Amino acid sequence: MILRFIPVLFVLTACSLLPAGRSERAGYFHTQVKPVLQQHCLQCHNGSLPPPALNLASKAAAFKRSASGRDYILAGAPDRSLLISAVQRGGTHPQMMPRTEVSLTDDQIGMLREWIEDGAYWPEGPAGTLHAQKSAENP
Ligand code: HEC
Repeated sequence: MILRFIPVLFVLTACSLLPAGRSERAGYFHTQVKPVLQQHCLQCHNGSLPPPALNLASKAAAFKRSASGRDYILAGAPDRSLLISAVQRGGTHPQMMPRTEVSLTDDQIGMLREWIEDGAYWPEGPAGTLHAQKSAENP
């Protein structure tokens, strides 16, 4: 009888030993990163901007380089990621992102920096397919 629980315990122990595990990164992507990109960026960066602009609809598209050969997202290096430079441009910079009335908050920018610093986890397939989403701040 007790033998039945041993595999379950083994799996639970193995998971809790992984440093900042895959499931933790997946959780961060789904609860923090994806909503901000979907509510603030996808209305434009969905593949419809004339090429070769940034397309945030999927991992494969988002990890492409810009026309000038720069990385939009460089895992582990937020300061070399064009996505971060674009949201940090202050004031009236013409290339400040998002190009809407609503800028990202410092918390949201910090969250994106942390996400890239920690490897920019982005799942393949439907879980990692992003669509524009309306929100209270950005209807
Ligand atoms: C209202 C439309 C709109 C929204 C919303 C928007 N962008 Fe953009 N973005 C543009 C356009 C247009 C360009 C210029 C296209 C190009 O790169 O040639 C651009 C360019 C960029 C670039 C390239 C900048 C550069 O220096 O080359 C980045 C990175 C970027 N956007 C990130 C974002 C992120 C991240 C968000 C969400 C926080 C966002 N954008 C929201 C319209 C938008």
